[in-house]
Amino acid sequence: MDYFKIDEKNALEAKIYAQQIAFAPIVFQAARTLRNLGILAIIKAEGRSGISFEKIVEKANLSTYGVRVLIEAGLGIQLITLNEDKYKLTLAGFYIMNDDMTTANLDFVHDICYKGMFDLENSIVTGKPTGLKELGAWKTIYEGLSSLTEQQKESWFKFDHYYSDYSFDAVFKHVFKNNPKRILDIGGNTGKWALKCINYSDTVHMGLVDLPGQLKMAQENIKKDKNAERVSFYEMNILDESNKLPKEYDVIWMSQFLDCFSEDEIVSILKRCHEALNENGEVIILEHFWDRQKFEVSAFCLQMTSLYFTNIANGNSQMYHSDLFKKLVKQAGFNSIEEIDGIGVSSSLLICKK
Ligand SMILES: C[S@@+](CC[C@H](N)C(=O)[O-])C[C@H]1O[C@@H](n2cnc3c(N)ncnc32)[C@H](O)[C@@H]1O
Repeated sequence: MDYFKIDEKNALEAKIYAQQIAFAPIVFQAARTLRNLGILAIIKAEGRSGISFEKIVEKANLSTYGVRVLIEAGLGIQLITLNEDKYKLTLAGFYIMNDDMTTANLDFVHDICYKGMFDLENSIVTGKPTGLKELGAWKTIYEGLSSLTEQQKESWFKFDHYYSDYSFDAVFKHVFKNNPKRILDIGGNTGKWALKCINYSDTVHMGLVDLPGQLKMAQENIKKDKNAERVSFYEMNILDESNKLPKEYDVIWMSQFLDCFSEDEIVSILKRCHEALNENGEVIILEHFWDRQKFEVSAFCLQMTSLYFTNIANGNSQMYHSDLFKKLVKQAGFNSIEEIDGIGVSSSLLICKK
């Protein structure tokens, strides 16, 4: 993405764009409401022939007024077209209804971020996740993940897994290249990656590090698996520097983990990985770097996700630029970094050696 080019809009285009930002929260809720109340689905069902306003009202079982304001907003935000009194769905309207990435992002923004973001300004000024109070009285979202409501949990995990799931299958060949006997997964979350590994390899032993709530979820998910005896669990708050990592692991794996921490915290975690790792061992990091994206929209999603970390998650972390991130890896003592981009939806892999 050439950021020097983004100021090439003419005055009218720039002013239009500014209005789209000014009304963005209303645009967002209009799109979500059109989807949730089934109006997009009603219009889609009529396909190319389109549907009249009266028919939409009849099928939606809502007031004429309610449908009218939503439909008019739908025209404004280009989810719906109008031609000779017939409404049809646009391709963007179809994506709001059906696209996996859009659904994961939209539900995450609504259920996790929306109310808290009202207070973003305060988060930047104080360095605290001041929006988190909308979800619960925790210092970071990670303390409260397992206590979120079912709806919030579903949206948080769908968002988190959407971005990591697509990457997992693509990285086996890199992670297992040197046939590691033991892999430590820090921030193992629900145990998804550990489960994949014990079923990919007949021999690998997995260690899982996470906070108590998530570790319990992982244990529940893993205990039913036929290879569950090949997993060890370590309940640990990695932010407590007196907590040392278990030794005897050939690979330390961290996926979408280090973006949950500030620069100093990342160095502290990586130094402890360095200390715990076998001499020929590897730290393998799966991360999303906004500067390494092929598509402008992927960088956009990551730049916006950073503000979720600022306002909701912990107040001090982000989706990093790869240059800053690699500087931290080197500061922790890893001199050799192999970099592989284009993994899954938007991930890069860093294979770090001592
Ligand atoms: C964004 S999730 C990533 C999950 C998973 N690795 C993936 O790729 O989908 C971050 C994980 O780090 C864990 N975590 C956050 N802060 C932590 C801390 N201070 N100590 C240990 N684990 C922590 C969270 O509980 C969560 O499971």
